[in-house]
Amino acid sequence: MKVSVKVPATSANMGPGFDCLGIALPIYNTVTIEETVLPGTGIEINILKDDELQELDNLIMENIPKDENSIVYKAVELLYNYIGQTPSELKINIQSQIPIARGLGSSAAVIVGALMAANELLGKPADEAALLSIATEVEGHPDNIAPAILGGMVMSSQEEDGSILYRKIDWPEDWMLTICIPDFELATEISRSVIPKEVPLSDAVFNLKRSAMFIQAIHTHDEELLKVALHDKLHQPYRMKLVSGLKEIIEALQHEEGYLGCVLSGAGPSILVISKQDNLDRIKSVVKETWNNLNVNADIRTLKVEQNGAEIIENQ
Ligand code: HSE
Repeated sequence: MKVSVKVPATSANMGPGFDCLGIALPIYNTVTIEETVLPGTGIEINILKDDELQELDNLIMENIPKDENSIVYKAVELLYNYIGQTPSELKINIQSQIPIARGLGSSAAVIVGALMAANELLGKPADEAALLSIATEVEGHPDNIAPAILGGMVMSSQEEDGSILYRKIDWPEDWMLTICIPDFELATEISRSVIPKEVPLSDAVFNLKRSAMFIQAIHTHDEELLKVALHDKLHQPYRMKLVSGLKEIIEALQHEEGYLGCVLSGAGPSILVISKQDNLDRIKSVVKETWNNLNVNADIRTLKVEQNGAEIIENQ
Protein backbone atom coordinates (compact mmCIF):
# COMPACT_ATOMS: atom_id res chain seq x y z
CA MET A 1 0.00 0.00 0.00
CA LYS A 2 1.18 3.52 -0.85
CA VAL A 3 -0.31 6.81 0.40
CA SER A 4 0.64 10.39 -0.59
CA VAL A 5 -0.41 13.49 1.32
CA LYS A 6 -0.04 17.08 0.08
CA VAL A 7 0.39 19.65 2.86
CA PRO A 8 0.40 23.47 2.59
CA ALA A 9 3.00 25.88 3.94
CA THR A 10 1.92 28.03 6.88
CA SER A 11 2.76 31.42 8.33
CA ALA A 12 2.47 31.43 12.12
CA ASN A 13 2.06 34.14 14.78
CA MET A 14 0.74 36.86 12.41
CA GLY A 15 2.13 39.53 14.72
CA PRO A 16 0.48 39.47 18.16
CA GLY A 17 -0.67 35.81 18.04
CA PHE A 18 2.59 34.20 19.14
CA ASP A 19 2.25 30.38 19.21
CA CYS A 20 -1.50 30.76 18.65
CA LEU A 21 -2.40 32.03 15.15
CA GLY A 22 -1.41 30.69 11.74
CA ILE A 23 -2.56 30.74 8.13
CA ALA A 24 -2.11 28.26 5.26
CA LEU A 25 -0.42 29.32 2.01
CA PRO A 26 -0.37 27.64 -1.45
CA ILE A 27 3.17 26.22 -1.40
CA TYR A 28 3.32 22.47 -0.72
CA ASN A 29 5.26 19.50 0.55
CA THR A 30 4.14 16.02 -0.45
CA VAL A 31 4.87 13.06 1.78
CA THR A 32 4.50 9.51 0.41
CA ILE A 33 4.62 6.45 2.64
CA GLU A 34 4.90 3.01 1.15
CA GLU A 35 4.83 -0.31 2.97
CA THR A 36 7.86 -2.24 1.77
CA VAL A 37 7.84 -5.98 1.23
CA LEU A 38 11.42 -6.53 2.33
CA PRO A 39 11.50 -7.46 5.99
CA GLY A 40 14.07 -5.95 8.32
CA THR A 41 14.78 -2.76 6.37
CA GLY A 42 13.18 -0.47 8.95
CA ILE A 43 12.10 3.01 7.97
CA GLU A 44 13.80 4.60 4.97
CA ILE A 45 13.36 8.36 4.48
CA ASN A 46 14.22 10.05 1.15
CA ILE A 47 14.14 13.76 0.48
CA LEU A 48 13.41 14.62 -3.17
CA LYS A 49 14.39 18.04 -4.45
CA ASP A 50 11.99 20.21 -6.34
CA ASP A 51 13.40 21.89 -9.48
CA GLU A 52 11.59 25.16 -8.81
CA LEU A 53 13.52 25.65 -5.62
CA GLN A 54 17.02 24.98 -6.90
CA GLU A 55 17.84 28.61 -7.65
CA LEU A 56 17.00 30.11 -4.28
CA ASP A 57 17.35 27.18 -1.99
CA ASN A 58 19.98 24.57 -2.62
CA LEU A 59 19.79 23.10 0.84
CA ILE A 60 16.12 22.20 0.77
CA MET A 61 15.44 19.38 3.20
CA GLU A 62 18.99 18.07 3.44
CA ASN A 63 19.20 19.22 7.03
CA ILE A 64 16.48 16.84 8.10
CA PRO A 65 18.23 13.79 9.52
CA LYS A 66 17.07 10.77 7.56
CA ASP A 67 17.39 8.39 10.47
CA GLU A 68 15.05 7.31 13.20
CA ASN A 69 15.62 10.55 15.13
CA SER A 70 14.05 12.68 12.47
CA ILE A 71 10.82 14.47 13.13
CA VAL A 72 9.19 12.37 10.46
CA TYR A 73 10.15 9.13 12.15
CA LYS A 74 9.07 10.50 15.52
CA ALA A 75 5.64 11.46 14.15
CA VAL A 76 5.09 8.03 12.58
CA GLU A 77 6.34 6.24 15.70
CA LEU A 78 4.00 8.23 17.97
CA LEU A 79 1.05 7.29 15.78
CA TYR A 80 1.93 3.59 15.86
CA ASN A 81 2.41 3.84 19.63
CA TYR A 82 -1.02 5.48 19.87
CA ILE A 83 -2.53 2.18 18.69
CA GLY A 84 -0.11 0.05 20.72
CA GLN A 85 2.15 -0.92 17.80
CA THR A 86 5.66 -0.13 16.58
CA PRO A 87 6.33 1.04 13.01
CA SER A 88 6.68 -1.64 10.35
CA GLU A 89 8.93 -1.55 7.26
CA LEU A 90 8.20 1.76 5.58
CA LYS A 91 9.65 3.84 2.77
CA ILE A 92 8.97 7.57 3.17
CA ASN A 93 9.54 10.04 0.31
CA ILE A 94 9.31 13.77 0.91
CA GLN A 95 8.91 16.10 -2.05
CA SER A 96 9.56 19.61 -0.88
CA GLN A 97 8.55 22.95 -2.35
CA ILE A 98 8.48 24.74 1.02
CA PRO A 99 11.87 26.34 1.72
CA ILE A 100 13.29 25.18 5.04
CA ALA A 101 14.24 27.39 7.98
CA ARG A 102 12.39 30.36 6.48
CA GLY A 103 9.38 30.54 8.85
CA LEU A 104 7.01 28.85 6.42
CA GLY A 105 6.13 25.72 8.35
CA SER A 106 8.26 23.22 6.41
CA SER A 107 8.73 20.99 9.46
CA ALA A 108 5.01 21.14 10.34
CA ALA A 109 4.23 20.14 6.75
CA VAL A 110 6.41 17.02 6.82
CA ILE A 111 5.17 16.03 10.29
CA VAL A 112 1.53 16.41 9.22
CA GLY A 113 2.13 14.68 5.88
CA ALA A 114 3.86 11.69 7.47
CA LEU A 115 1.24 11.39 10.20
CA MET A 116 -1.73 11.56 7.85
CA ALA A 117 -0.19 9.09 5.41
CA ALA A 118 0.63 6.63 8.21
CA ASN A 119 -2.86 7.10 9.65
CA GLU A 120 -4.39 6.19 6.29
CA LEU A 121 -2.15 3.09 6.03
CA LEU A 122 -3.33 2.01 9.48
CA GLY A 123 -7.04 2.43 8.63
CA LYS A 124 -7.52 5.87 10.20
CA PRO A 125 -7.26 5.08 13.93
CA ALA A 126 -6.60 8.75 14.81
CA ASP A 127 -9.23 11.45 14.27
CA GLU A 128 -8.45 15.11 13.51
CA ALA A 129 -8.07 16.05 17.20
CA ALA A 130 -5.67 13.16 17.86
CA LEU A 131 -3.60 14.00 14.76
CA LEU A 132 -3.34 17.62 15.96
CA SER A 133 -2.16 16.51 19.42
CA ILE A 134 0.40 14.04 18.10
CA ALA A 135 1.76 16.50 15.51
CA THR A 136 2.01 19.23 18.17
CA GLU A 137 3.88 16.88 20.47
CA VAL A 138 6.55 16.53 17.78
CA GLU A 139 6.57 20.21 16.67
CA GLY A 140 6.27 21.79 20.13
CA HIS A 141 3.54 24.33 19.32
CA PRO A 142 0.34 24.04 17.28
CA ASP A 143 0.26 27.31 15.32
CA ASN A 144 1.74 25.87 12.08
CA ILE A 145 0.31 22.38 12.59
CA ALA A 146 -3.35 23.47 12.86
CA PRO A 147 -3.57 25.44 9.58
CA ALA A 148 -1.44 22.78 7.83
CA ILE A 149 -4.12 20.20 8.74
CA LEU A 150 -7.22 22.40 8.40
CA GLY A 151 -6.29 25.07 5.83
CA GLY A 152 -7.25 28.74 6.15
CA MET A 153 -6.49 30.84 9.21
CA VAL A 154 -6.68 28.95 12.50
CA MET A 155 -6.34 29.85 16.19
CA SER A 156 -4.98 27.00 18.24
CA SER A 157 -3.99 26.40 21.82
CA GLN A 158 -2.28 23.41 23.39
CA GLU A 159 -4.17 22.84 26.62
CA GLU A 160 -2.70 21.43 29.82
CA ASP A 161 -3.93 17.89 29.07
CA GLY A 162 -2.17 17.98 25.66
CA SER A 163 -5.36 18.42 23.67
CA ILE A 164 -5.55 21.18 21.08
CA LEU A 165 -8.36 23.71 21.15
CA TYR A 166 -8.76 25.17 17.67
CA ARG A 167 -11.13 27.22 15.53
CA LYS A 168 -10.98 28.44 11.94
CA ILE A 169 -11.19 32.20 11.34
CA ASP A 170 -12.36 33.69 8.02
CA TRP A 171 -9.59 35.85 6.58
CA PRO A 172 -10.98 38.73 4.44
CA GLU A 173 -10.11 37.90 0.82
CA ASP A 174 -9.24 41.49 -0.09
CA TRP A 175 -6.51 41.73 2.56
CA MET A 176 -3.60 40.58 0.44
CA LEU A 177 -0.79 38.45 1.84
CA THR A 178 2.65 39.04 0.37
CA ILE A 179 5.25 36.60 1.60
CA CYS A 180 8.83 37.86 1.34
CA ILE A 181 11.36 35.00 1.56
CA PRO A 182 14.99 36.08 1.97
CA ASP A 183 17.94 33.98 0.77
CA PHE A 184 19.20 33.32 4.30
CA GLU A 185 18.00 30.74 6.82
CA LEU A 186 17.08 31.01 10.47
CA ALA A 187 16.56 27.83 12.48
CA THR A 188 13.47 27.92 14.69
CA GLU A 189 15.47 26.74 17.74
CA ILE A 190 17.83 29.70 17.39
CA SER A 191 14.98 32.12 16.84
CA ARG A 192 13.15 30.80 19.92
CA SER A 193 16.29 30.86 22.06
CA VAL A 194 16.49 34.68 22.01
CA ILE A 195 13.01 35.10 23.51
CA PRO A 196 13.14 35.52 27.31
CA LYS A 197 11.27 33.03 29.50
CA GLU A 198 9.60 35.92 31.34
CA VAL A 199 8.40 39.24 29.92
CA PRO A 200 7.18 42.47 31.55
CA LEU A 201 3.48 42.44 32.40
CA SER A 202 3.01 45.60 30.31
CA ASP A 203 4.32 43.75 27.21
CA ALA A 204 2.01 40.79 27.86
CA VAL A 205 -0.93 43.20 28.18
CA PHE A 206 0.17 44.99 24.97
CA ASN A 207 -0.14 41.68 23.05
CA LEU A 208 -3.35 40.69 24.83
CA LYS A 209 -5.00 43.90 23.62
CA ARG A 210 -3.64 43.47 20.09
CA SER A 211 -4.81 39.85 19.78
CA ALA A 212 -8.32 40.95 20.78
CA MET A 213 -8.15 43.86 18.29
CA PHE A 214 -6.88 41.51 15.55
CA ILE A 215 -9.81 39.10 15.81
CA GLN A 216 -12.34 41.95 15.99
CA ALA A 217 -10.66 43.70 13.02
CA ILE A 218 -11.02 40.50 10.96
CA HIS A 219 -14.66 39.96 11.98
CA THR A 220 -15.68 43.53 11.17
CA HIS A 221 -13.22 44.16 8.33
CA ASP A 222 -11.84 47.16 10.22
CA GLU A 223 -8.63 48.32 8.53
CA GLU A 224 -7.81 51.03 11.07
CA LEU A 225 -8.06 48.53 13.92
CA LEU A 226 -5.97 46.00 11.96
CA LYS A 227 -3.13 48.51 11.55
CA VAL A 228 -2.91 48.88 15.35
CA ALA A 229 -3.45 45.15 15.96
CA LEU A 230 -0.50 43.94 13.86
CA HIS A 231 2.11 44.89 16.45
CA ASP A 232 3.89 42.64 18.87
CA LYS A 233 6.10 42.89 21.92
CA LEU A 234 6.51 39.21 22.79
CA HIS A 235 8.79 37.88 20.05
CA GLN A 236 9.53 40.27 17.18
CA PRO A 237 11.59 42.84 19.16
CA TYR A 238 13.91 40.03 20.36
CA ARG A 239 14.18 38.45 16.91
CA MET A 240 14.85 41.75 15.13
CA LYS A 241 18.63 41.28 15.47
CA LEU A 242 18.47 37.87 13.77
CA VAL A 243 16.50 39.10 10.76
CA SER A 244 18.52 41.48 8.66
CA GLY A 245 16.21 44.08 7.12
CA LEU A 246 13.09 43.52 9.25
CA LYS A 247 13.35 46.87 11.03
CA GLU A 248 14.21 48.72 7.81
CA ILE A 249 11.37 47.07 5.85
CA ILE A 250 8.78 47.96 8.52
CA GLU A 251 10.01 51.57 8.48
CA ALA A 252 10.15 51.78 4.69
CA LEU A 253 6.58 50.49 4.26
CA GLN A 254 4.96 52.68 6.96
CA HIS A 255 3.61 55.38 4.66
CA GLU A 256 2.93 53.33 1.53
CA GLU A 257 -0.61 53.54 0.24
CA GLY A 258 -2.65 50.42 0.94
CA TYR A 259 -0.16 49.11 3.52
CA LEU A 260 -1.85 47.55 6.55
CA GLY A 261 0.99 45.85 8.40
CA CYS A 262 4.09 43.76 8.32
CA VAL A 263 4.95 40.82 10.58
CA LEU A 264 7.60 38.17 10.92
CA SER A 265 6.40 34.90 9.38
CA GLY A 266 6.62 32.31 12.17
CA ALA A 267 10.10 32.33 13.66
CA GLY A 268 11.40 34.17 10.57
CA PRO A 269 13.29 35.15 8.58
CA SER A 270 10.45 35.50 6.02
CA ILE A 271 8.28 38.57 6.36
CA LEU A 272 4.53 38.66 5.75
CA VAL A 273 3.16 41.96 4.45
CA ILE A 274 -0.58 42.57 4.71
CA SER A 275 -2.00 45.20 2.39
CA LYS A 276 -4.91 46.24 0.25
CA GLN A 277 -4.94 45.17 -3.39
CA ASP A 278 -3.88 48.49 -4.86
CA ASN A 279 -0.19 49.42 -4.78
CA LEU A 280 1.01 45.80 -4.49
CA ASP A 281 3.82 46.25 -7.03
CA ARG A 282 5.15 49.29 -5.18
CA ILE A 283 5.01 47.46 -1.83
CA LYS A 284 6.92 44.49 -3.29
CA SER A 285 9.58 46.72 -4.82
CA VAL A 286 10.07 48.60 -1.52
CA VAL A 287 10.75 45.26 0.24
CA LYS A 288 13.03 44.07 -2.57
CA GLU A 289 15.04 47.30 -2.67
CA THR A 290 15.39 47.50 1.10
CA TRP A 291 16.77 43.96 1.22
CA ASN A 292 18.93 44.55 -1.88
CA ASN A 293 20.57 47.46 -0.07
CA LEU A 294 21.57 44.98 2.63
CA ASN A 295 22.80 42.44 0.04
CA VAL A 296 19.86 40.13 0.62
CA ASN A 297 18.07 38.54 -2.34
CA ALA A 298 14.47 37.61 -1.88
CA ASP A 299 11.63 35.70 -3.44
CA ILE A 300 8.52 37.85 -3.00
CA ARG A 301 5.08 36.44 -3.80
CA THR A 302 1.53 37.65 -3.23
CA LEU A 303 -0.48 34.52 -2.40
CA LYS A 304 -4.09 33.63 -1.79
CA VAL A 305 -4.91 31.86 1.47
CA GLU A 306 -4.94 28.07 0.94
CA GLN A 307 -8.38 27.15 2.22
CA ASN A 308 -7.74 23.40 2.02
CA GLY A 309 -5.62 21.68 4.61
CA ALA A 310 -3.56 18.54 4.12
CA GLU A 311 -5.17 16.13 1.66
CA ILE A 312 -4.61 12.57 0.54
CA ILE A 313 -3.74 12.72 -3.15
CA GLU A 314 -2.83 9.05 -3.71
CA ASN A 315 -3.98 5.89 -2.00
CA GLN A 316 -3.26 2.60 -3.72
N1 HSE B 1 5.22 30.23 16.97
C1 HSE B 1 6.46 29.67 16.53
C2 HSE B 1 7.58 30.65 16.81
C3 HSE B 1 6.38 29.37 15.06
O1 HSE B 1 7.39 31.84 16.56
O2 HSE B 1 8.64 30.24 17.26
C4 HSE B 1 7.66 28.79 14.53
O3 HSE B 1 7.47 27.55 14.05
